[in-house]
Amino acid sequence: MNYRELATAALEARKLSYSPYSNFRVGAALLTKSGKIFTGCNVESAAFSPTNCAERTALFKAVSEGEREFCAIAVAGAPEGGEAQYCYPCGVCRQMLAEFFSADCEVIVVRNEEDYKLYMFEELFPHGFGPGDLTDMY
Ligand code: THU
Repeated sequence: MNYRELATAALEARKLSYSPYSNFRVGAALLTKSGKIFTGCNVESAAFSPTNCAERTALFKAVSEGEREFCAIAVAGAPEGGEAQYCYPCGVCRQMLAEFFSADCEVIVVRNEEDYKLYMFEELFPHGFGPGDLTDMY
């Protein structure tokens, strides 16, 4: 699949980043199996720890609107006014994505519309703890 549209959506979402403390601006675009795109940006707090990453913003928006099945997420992150770079989802976001992503879902790290890299989710979150580990309990 060509993920250019998803990469563009992540770059657009990055423009809405609220990141006055780190000045690190991140946008994410999450593609559902039904073909919808949910976007998100990082939203920071003066108390720092309540900050929410772009990936989780997009995921929470989608799940709270009834979506649970996803194919891919694109992430575009870089310092304000700095060089474009590949920004990988943090550990907390990988753990949260594992709740809904299967091993073959794709993660696209976006430098710009022409320059992005694709990974399988299992490459970024190998041997993770996930919902399947609790199946005997629930
Ligand atoms: N951030 C994200 O939004 N996603 C990531 O994958 C990495 C980090 C945000 C959190 C914080 O607002 C800023 O980037 C610096 O850590």
